[in-house]
Amino acid sequence: KILILDFGSQFTQLIARRVREANVYCELHAWDMSEADIRAFAPAGIILSGGPNSVYEDETPKAPQVVFDLGVPVFGICYGMQTMAAQLGGAVESGKVREFGYAEIRAHGHSKLFDGIQDKTNAAGHGLLDVWMSHGDKVTALPAGFSAIASNEATPFAAMADEMRRFYAVQFHPEVTHTHQGRAIIARFVHDICGCGKDWNMPDYITEAVEKIRAQVGDEEVILGLSGGVDSSVAAALIHRAIGDQLICVFVDNGLLRLNEGAQVMETFGQNMRMKIVHVDAGDEFLKHLTGVSDPEQKRKIIGREFVEVFQRESAKLKSAKWLAQGTIYPDVIESAGAKTKKAHTIKSHHNVGGLPDTMHLKLLEPLRELFKDEVRELGVALGLPSDMVYRHPFPGPGLGVRILGEVKREYAELLRRADAIFIEELRNTRDVSGKTWYELTSQAFTVFLPVKSVGVMGDGRTYEWVVSLRAVVTSDFMTAHWAHLPYELLGKVSNRIINEVRGINRVVYDISGKPPATIEWE
Ligand code: XMP
Repeated sequence: KILILDFGSQFTQLIARRVREANVYCELHAWDMSEADIRAFAPAGIILSGGPNSVYEDETPKAPQVVFDLGVPVFGICYGMQTMAAQLGGAVESGKVREFGYAEIRAHGHSKLFDGIQDKTNAAGHGLLDVWMSHGDKVTALPAGFSAIASNEATPFAAMADEMRRFYAVQFHPEVTHTHQGRAIIARFVHDICGCGKDWNMPDYITEAVEKIRAQVGDEEVILGLSGGVDSSVAAALIHRAIGDQLICVFVDNGLLRLNEGAQVMETFGQNMRMKIVHVDAGDEFLKHLTGVSDPEQKRKIIGREFVEVFQRESAKLKSAKWLAQGTIYPDVIESAGAKTKKAHTIKSHHNVGGLPDTMHLKLLEPLRELFKDEVRELGVALGLPSDMVYRHPFPGPGLGVRILGEVKREYAELLRRADAIFIEELRNTRDVSGKTWYELTSQAFTVFLPVKSVGVMGDGRTYEWVVSLRAVVTSDFMTAHWAHLPYELLGKVSNRIINEVRGINRVVYDISGKPPATIEWE
């Protein structure tokens, strides 16, 4: 197993992820882990992460001496390289220019770290690597025993190695995907240099996580707000695997869910997985509070507040529970840390099950905190959740509340639910030439209800009915998005079906706005 010592880089979790992808077990600990704990961990190798500090500042974090005394391979990344160099007798200087972004480096000589790993070769036969740099300081003199194993003009010591002691370090970030061979380099370190086998996988992860949850919770009860979304569903399945009926899920139906969604959640978790679920049918209550309100931000606030109120009321009835479980995943952790430092302009006030007040006096259980979204999905499948649920498009906390423009009414929600179900069904049933369904080819797709009536004709009669808009986007991070180029035949079929099958809607339009300047949701 691999020990990763965290010096505070934004990318440390990515290192852990790459090691997991290489099917090797790893744990991430703070850089000041005690010598006794490091020895007890008995790592096959140690990775020192990057970090925001400069080795020149007073009281900068240093790797515990035992890291270099254990006799196991050590791999320093960025700050990890600098502190390795400084601690072993080399020199680090503050660079005048920050090197940030892509760089091409040349691997020289033979080094176990890079041998046979390259993007291309130059005329002299040296391997060239496209890497991603982000640093101000750099190593200017190597410690005794080390040689440079890669360089470029800006960074003569882009990577260094002491092959005898098996100490390796790189100035660039192999853990980010911009470094094309990064995965291979990390795999090389953990497999070939540390000698770890590819013997760790999702079932092992589940075993570990289950043990951790049991140790944490003991025989106490845990409450979890189940939304039917990926994260809370996977968290529920994992915790249930660990502690069975000590887990009580509270599922708040706010009346703004998609067609049959409540029944599906109850079927999957209640009937099939036999979990304890409190199903709260709070649709009337939510609708009552939304009556007469048409401002998007106000609607979001009301839905968020109502959720907290209903959830607290229901969980207060579960008097013996001591824990609140949440499906927080790693990107949420970074985002909320980022939100503290950056004062971003509020475009939309997001509401999640995560936003519960700490007045609930419950201890927090967050078993997915270290995982990225696709790892959470993989975990969900391994836990036996239906893949339709695990690979579902994201659905916002306020649900149809922000997809019915202006005032929310029960009648609108019912029409929208049926229209949306048709759109999604057709996306799931239609494939492009690659064989993928259009549901898979789009990142998010849904229908929006426009409280506008337009004139139509059906048979011999005039109609005067509502309009819906279809929305489908392609994006990787939901920060920017393109509208999806859905085939005309598909759009035509969806339009026909909605107008024929949903009485009350006589016009369907397709939203062709990108983000920015539009947002993905209409409110
Ligand atoms: P926008 O509309 O801002 O949406 O382009 C970006 C992504 O965020 C989702 N979204 C939300 N998710 N609570 C959520 O959990 C919210 O209040 C919320 N508002 C928007 C949206 O569906 C899209 O995926």
